Amino acid sequence: MQNNTTQVEGQTPQREGHYELAKKTAIVTGGGKGLGKAITKMLLTKGMNVAICGRSQDSITTAVQEFSVLYPQQIYGESCDVSNSQQVQTFVANVVTKFNHVHVLINNSGFGKQSLVWQTTESDWDEVMNTNVKGTYLMCKSVVPQMIKNLEGYILNIASQAALNGYANAGVYCASKFAMVGLGKALQEEVREFGIHVHSLNPALIQSQKTPADAIDSGLVQNEDLAHMAVYLLQQPRRLKIDNIGMWGF
Ligand SMILES: NC(=O)c1ccc[n+]([C@@H]2O[C@H](COP(=O)([O-])OP(=O)(O)OC[C@H]3O[C@@H](n4cnc5c(N)ncnc54)[C@H](OP(=O)(O)O)[C@@H]3O)[C@@H](O)[C@H]2O)c1
Repeated sequence: MQNNTTQVEGQTPQREGHYELAKKTAIVTGGGKGLGKAITKMLLTKGMNVAICGRSQDSITTAVQEFSVLYPQQIYGESCDVSNSQQVQTFVANVVTKFNHVHVLINNSGFGKQSLVWQTTESDWDEVMNTNVKGTYLMCKSVVPQMIKNLEGYILNIASQAALNGYANAGVYCASKFAMVGLGKALQEEVREFGIHVHSLNPALIQSQKTPADAIDSGLVQNEDLAHMAVYLLQQPRRLKIDNIGMWGF
């Protein structure tokens, strides 16, 4: 397959050693809430710069204010709908202006709609596919060229067990998550030669703790478990390829 890239001639990607997270920059889509927020927090504690986005300006502003208390120089956020190519380009350009580069992209923005396949409305179909699939594609499209120039990078796609199994009342969600995994696998084939890792994380149901006081249901995966897994993946030897991480409550 042909590659149309601007890789610096004669340079080859680093295959040895571990990836140093401190001072590197990550984008976490949907980083203002839920799982994305937990991943953002974990990456900040590792010394990374983190740029977050989401459609709601309020939740991004609140999260940035919260993280700024401990990490004022490391956090950046702005509202951006990942299904809108212009907004994605502007967001990524602003992140590069702020932090110079994007080393890690975590495609976390996503949601589902519950309905039987034949009762799913066209607008629900478009909404879910546009965020979960097109949003992942648009973010990759904006970020991958600079990762290629840098001959390194990590892309973590937050898929789901719905990317591997069919669930009733979740047809469009399953379709979107299967598509995310397929997109990631194809992309991995295209960017491996540039030292870029593409991972897919496939958690089962995650407990959504609305407030820190909510009791933890140990039968469910927690946001922090996913955040730990994200960091684990980023810290593996560069020569190692890990993919399709399944996670369940135990
Ligand atoms: N919760 C689970 O049980 C579970 C299990 C497996 C996988 N997952 C996956 O994990 C990811 C995070 O889920 P979560 O449980 O943390 O859900 P959540 O709390 O609802 O967070 C979803 C995030 O995505 C953002 N988002 C949604 N549409 C967007 C768009 N078009 N552009 C930009 N941002 C958008 C939301 O922000 P705005 O609303 O402000 O845009 C929010 O920050 C999702 O991809 C989900 O499919 C979740």
